[in-house]
Amino acid sequence: MLLQGKTIVVTGGNSGIGEQICLAAAAEGANIVIDYVAHPEATDALIKKIEDAGGKAVGVDADITKAADLQTMVQTAVDTFGRLDVLVNNAGMEDRKSLLEETEEGYDRLMAVNMKSAFFATQHAAKQFIAQGDGGLVLNISSVHEDWPMPGNIAYCVSKGGMRMLARTGGVELGAHGIRIVNIAPGAVDTPINTATTTDPEKLKQLDAAIPLGRLAKPEEIADVVVFLASGKAGYMTATTVTIDGGITQGSVGL
Ligand code: BGC
Repeated sequence: MLLQGKTIVVTGGNSGIGEQICLAAAAEGANIVIDYVAHPEATDALIKKIEDAGGKAVGVDADITKAADLQTMVQTAVDTFGRLDVLVNNAGMEDRKSLLEETEEGYDRLMAVNMKSAFFATQHAAKQFIAQGDGGLVLNISSVHEDWPMPGNIAYCVSKGGMRMLARTGGVELGAHGIRIVNIAPGAVDTPINTATTTDPEKLKQLDAAIPLGRLAKPEEIADVVVFLASGKAGYMTATTVTIDGGITQGSVGL
């Protein structure tokens, strides 16, 4: 198994891409720490699914917008499984507002969920990795929009652009400790974040047409790359981004 005995924390782990990361990592032998703030019943169901398949998982009710809660989250991993090997900053949201529409409250909320959370979770994980003395890995579930404008979703793009620099600058700062930071940039994925598009046949047709592979990604297809990156078979990668987008960012109208 690729992740035997490794302890992995996944923020926003009880739905969407996060849930599939938990399942895929558990299937490869990892101990899973599922961070959540809502739907404890979904966390319980996921833990049961992992345990029924012979895996190990624990839930932690931690508000990722609070640095103190992020420290509790890291500590839960250490208290439960003895150490931390991989942090996956997965939790995220979007609000589909333009620059002219965004409010201060909406901006603060989005930046706290997407950006501040990843920043301070990485800080706490890095301190734990340094205390353990044998390196560590942070994987950020970013987006193609860390580098590709999405008009009408600007705060989301700004937050993901920040995540891009978190991986690059943080990766450089922490390299000497053997700590690596790698971003994963999905394109359109069939998860709750895209329900407004996937439940509207016209919009879905338009989105599929813009993707060279002709369809959204399944969350499992993102989780598989997380397993690979966490497996030790990608040990020279840091301060960079892996794109998984079906080619969407390479398209052109060709006119
Ligand atoms: C966004 C989606 C969007 C996709 C492709 C994702 O990061 O969350 O709303 O459809 O990128 O543009």
